[in-house]
Amino acid sequence: MGGFAMGYTFDSKSGLTMAALLLMIVSFYAGILFGNNAPLYVSQLVSHSSSSSSPPNNVSSNGTTKFTNKVALTYWKTPLVIPETGMDVCPLTFNEYIPCHDVSYVATLAPSLDFSRKEELERHCPPLEKRLFCLVPPPKDYKLPIKWPLSRDYVWRSNVNHTHLAEVKGGQNWVHEKDQLWWFPGGGTHFKHGASDYIERLGHMITNEAGDLRSAGVVQVLDVGCGVASFSAYLLPLDIRTMSFAPKDGHENQIQFALERGIGAMISALSTKQLPYPSESFEMIHCSRCRIDFHENDGILLKELNRLLRFNGYFVYSAPPAYRKDKDYPVIWDKLMNLTTAMCWRLIARQVQTAIWIKENNQSCLLHNVEKKHINLCDAVDDSKPSWNIQLKNCVLVRNSKTDSYKLLPTHERHSVFSENLNMIGLSTFFCTSERS
Ligand SMILES: *[C@@H]1O[C@H](CO)[C@@H](O)[C@H](O)[C@H]1NC(C)=O
Ligand SMILES: *[C@@H]1O[C@H](CO)[C@@H](O)[C@H](O)[C@H]1NC(C)=O
Ligand SMILES: *[C@@H]1O[C@H](CO)[C@@H](O)[C@H](O)[C@H]1NC(C)=O
Ligand SMILES: *[C@@H]1O[C@H](CO)[C@@H](O)[C@H](O)[C@H]1NC(C)=O
Ligand SMILES: *[C@@H]1O[C@H](CO)[C@@H](O)[C@H](O)[C@H]1NC(C)=O
Repeated sequence: MGGFAMGYTFDSKSGLTMAALLLMIVSFYAGILFGNNAPLYVSQLVSHSSSSSSPPNNVSSNGTTKFTNKVALTYWKTPLVIPETGMDVCPLTFNEYIPCHDVSYVATLAPSLDFSRKEELERHCPPLEKRLFCLVPPPKDYKLPIKWPLSRDYVWRSNVNHTHLAEVKGGQNWVHEKDQLWWFPGGGTHFKHGASDYIERLGHMITNEAGDLRSAGVVQVLDVGCGVASFSAYLLPLDIRTMSFAPKDGHENQIQFALERGIGAMISALSTKQLPYPSESFEMIHCSRCRIDFHENDGILLKELNRLLRFNGYFVYSAPPAYRKDKDYPVIWDKLMNLTTAMCWRLIARQVQTAIWIKENNQSCLLHNVEKKHINLCDAVDDSKPSWNIQLKNCVLVRNSKTDSYKLLPTHERHSVFSENLNMIGLSTFFCTSERS
């Protein structure tokens, strides 16, 4: 009950004020980034063209536009100059260019990267002059994307020209080629028979056969190594929202499939830096064959999951160490058990090919393990900082009883009640209360 001392219900009027304030904040930052500096680009049209209002592209009498933009590989320069023909268009070979995930640039950094921790999969942004300054063209034969909900199952083949994933993952029912389309049957490495069945099974495991994930309180999920993000697509009907990510790795860019399907996803990797989410953001973290070595490096990646999980949140782990008895898997499993036990997670189910832990709020257990030096304690101050570009920490945070308020309200109340979580990342009720006075 009394956990939400700062709880404050704002009405629609103050809600509007919040939105206005947010807008102000956004424009404030935009001002810093784009407004107060010297002009970032100089348009040659202004100085050279006789009629400054004429567009660079000539609209012909029959109403069709003839684009005159040059195709040229152009890089950032200061000041930026936009040619008379309009922004240059990058050559077609750059149609999958992603600024901070450029394989050829990352290769130049190789000697300084920690490959044992897969640092090469993280973001690495080149210096300004090595960034492209041309429009990334669509792939050949690009078509207007198919709309949701049909896009859950079908996207245009030519829009995502990645044949490799279909070749290696076809047998696992991720994606198949079907004439002009990619077809997504809803499978995954771990749910060949469809994500729905798998999601239902997880619900049963968590609720002791009594309910589904939603009734177990799962509202926000983080899907680690999401593939084409079918898991997320099939959680949606349960009113469960998923943040999905996968690196841009040997499987080509899986995220592009997810986005083309209309499923939100990011290119990201669990490697040396914190994920860009505040602590205690998810009720469930899911790894299905995510190919992450959680047992390595003293379980530092599990500690990041511990940071991201809410109390009574679940870690769902569907990977060989959870069920296979050959090779190194039993040893890896023992390590996982040791690491999770040290964090005071409790294994609540281990069935078929999946293990599920719950992160309980057991302070006495954590303090005991800290004392026995099974685990290190994090500095609470660090936790209030934005988790952007922060090195992973090999420690856990022990919350005092006051922070029990981290327990969330039911979803419908979350929309209107100020959460103390926001306080902890530096957003205060000031925005609401100042409107009252
Ligand atoms: C468009 O091009 C035609 C000839 O191709 C030219 O006569 C006309 O002035 C151009 N219009 C503009 C707005 O540049
Ligand atoms: C419109 O006119 C341009 C030449 O000005 C021509 O190339 C194009 O084919 C025409 N488009 C249609 C739809 O008639
Ligand atoms: C797709 O990529 C292959 C090479 O990976 C290329 O040969 C082919 O022309 C591409 N198709 C389209 C439609 O861009
Ligand atoms: C797990 O912990 C136990 C007791 O602390 C230890 O004996 C065992 O070697 C550990 N296992 C692994 C695989 O680290
Ligand atoms: C907390 O953890 C300790 C030690 O692991 C255990 O004995 C105790 O039962 C736990 N308390 C709760 C409330 O689960």
